[in-house]
Amino acid sequence: MIKPSSPHQRIIFPLDLPTLGEALEYVELLKGSVGLFKIGLELFIASGPETVAAVKATAPQCGIFLDLKLHDIPATVTNAMASASVLGADFITVHCDDGGPLLRAAVEAAASSGFKPRCAAGKICDDSDQGLGVLGVTVLTSMTTEAMAEAGMDSNRFATASDLVLHRAAVAAEAGCAGVICSPLEAEAVKEANGPELLVITPGIRSADSPPDDQRRTATPYEAIRAGADYIVVGRPIRNAADPVEAAAAIASEIERALEERSASSV
Ligand code: C5P
Repeated sequence: MIKPSSPHQRIIFPLDLPTLGEALEYVELLKGSVGLFKIGLELFIASGPETVAAVKATAPQCGIFLDLKLHDIPATVTNAMASASVLGADFITVHCDDGGPLLRAAVEAAASSGFKPRCAAGKICDDSDQGLGVLGVTVLTSMTTEAMAEAGMDSNRFATASDLVLHRAAVAAEAGCAGVICSPLEAEAVKEANGPELLVITPGIRSADSPPDDQRRTATPYEAIRAGADYIVVGRPIRNAADPVEAAAAIASEIERALEERSASSV
């Protein structure tokens, strides 16, 4: 797994683009400005598993985050993980909705690719760590407490999206996941409850003046890192900027400021 030795390496840029050609243009443009490229469903379905090798060939210094959000019976996820583990990605996502058995199946399948459950998490990334780190998707950052009720979730047990995130993060940690995906609003509580070893990765990154969109549980890059996030996923604020490289650099400065404050407050 890639080790974030400078602030910009904590930025994960999602290649939410319809074709491999367009995606590789962004990889070429941003490979010195971000740490990992995220390949999600849109691009993976359009361009296939070869997308991983193509992105790696264009940006060998960057990590690959395979955001497939796997969600099926444990046997199917085990087999999907076996296929995914040979692609050379650093992280893969699995939904937490079905609890421990599914997450454990994913972690065990990843272990056969060289990933050692939890051992990679505390160090974030050691050069000697190989294989695929499993990340549990807790609750999508587009999800609101109201939408949870509509989706049939038990509001007596989990009054808010954040309550559910905390529950699912604990299940993911117990199952041996390398980390979890949650909103920046829950980053601090997830770190507090599970310790520094569980990686916290937060999408839903927006500045105060960002135009409204589908993201609901959002915060700025500074706020997310200050709250304890290890990595932030930033898509549209970089992709839609007049100058994406400049936008990524501004985000890296915010990350640097938050990291300085984090280390100052921990001494
Ligand atoms: O453009 P934007 O910054 O909203 O991109 C966020 C990315 O993070 C998207 O690729 C989305 O699929 C992903 N994501 C998310 N919320 C999660 C998990 C992944 O927004 N809980």
